[in-house]
Amino acid sequence: MPTETTTPTEKQAAPLITRARLRGLAATGLIILSVVTAFLYLGGWFAPGALTPARFVDGLERAGGMHSGFRRNHAKGVAVSGFFESNGQGMRLSKALIFRTGRIPVIGRFSLSGAAPSVADAPDTVRGLGLLFRLPDGEEWRTAMVNLPVFPVKGPQGFYDLTLASAPDPQTHKPDPQKMEAFLARHPETARAFKIFQSHPPSSGFENSTFNSLMAFRFVNASGVWIPVRWSMVPVQPFAAATPAAAAPGNKNYLFDALIVSIHRHPLQWHLMITIGQPGDVTNDANIPWPVGREQVDAGTLTLDSVESEETSPARDINFDPAVLPAGIEPSDDLLLSARSAVYSESFRRRAGETKESSAITPSEVRQ
Ligand code: HEM
Repeated sequence: MPTETTTPTEKQAAPLITRARLRGLAATGLIILSVVTAFLYLGGWFAPGALTPARFVDGLERAGGMHSGFRRNHAKGVAVSGFFESNGQGMRLSKALIFRTGRIPVIGRFSLSGAAPSVADAPDTVRGLGLLFRLPDGEEWRTAMVNLPVFPVKGPQGFYDLTLASAPDPQTHKPDPQKMEAFLARHPETARAFKIFQSHPPSSGFENSTFNSLMAFRFVNASGVWIPVRWSMVPVQPFAAATPAAAAPGNKNYLFDALIVSIHRHPLQWHLMITIGQPGDVTNDANIPWPVGREQVDAGTLTLDSVESEETSPARDINFDPAVLPAGIEPSDDLLLSARSAVYSESFRRRAGETKESSAITPSEVRQ
């Protein structure tokens, strides 16, 4: 039986391309085709109206302006760091290492929603807290939470439309009331959410704000049993109502300045509260609250004892992608998560390649 390496084959006029080579070429061709298809799909070529990550970020830029090097949402921010002390209570709910008794390092970022990095602080602007927990086995848990009791819309398209409907009009610098009215007519769930917001007035500052995941996730324990959960960072610092006076003109950064002063005075703490969903509780819609009285488990305490301008902190170059989850924590059936992850990556990709303008909260401001 002649093999590939002996000469007699030459006499038989060896086939130009061997079968194996053909298979290789076909496989390469397929890979190229699928990559091109993916690019075309992500670029929205197959469904021109499709809300792709790129189109979403274009919308955020149209609504809030283009600011080189900044996040396309939650652009104004300051970096913090500290640790999470687990009390072991979470272990019966999830096998994630973070719930084992002990302390792990945390890096984070407080922010205000919107694309404008130097917007004036205001009591009712949505506040954000992004956290990255570094687990002992090298895994990470990233979460991005806000001080809202529910999300104003159900899905990505609704959030895109709300972003455009609430964008400041270039003439008046205020949202166009007619656009908002038309949006609310199409989105009764947002009108309902605005009502819920009214019964949850904002606190006086970042340090006494409760931050919620809003979206549901799944906790999986060591026996493989999963439960639906939502989580919140509940402050130890006592609640005080926001006072409009605090937002006096000329004090554009009053929320951040108060946070900086507080952390310099003493470390700030939050309890990680896990709310356990019951059968029938909605898990694919962050706009719908769960019934009051669901079981809550205090899984441990977050301590933030250091604040830094994002100009000098590694937090600036972190994407607090909420889909980065350790073993023991899994996505729910809420499509918002994959949409967020894709849009955050697109925002990160754009800002990572741009020159960084200076942040509103500068190192000198932090050092005061
Ligand atoms: C379709 C829905 C959403 C979209 C399109 C969206 C979009 C974005 C974008 C583009 C960023 C900047 C990402 C970066 O460049 O690193 C961001 C940051 C953030 N988002 Fe969202 N978001 C959505 C839903 C939510 C929800 C439901 C929450 C909270 C429950 C949330 C909380 C935050 C926070 C806290 C940050 C700042 C994180 C940081 O400091 O880097 N977002 N969002």
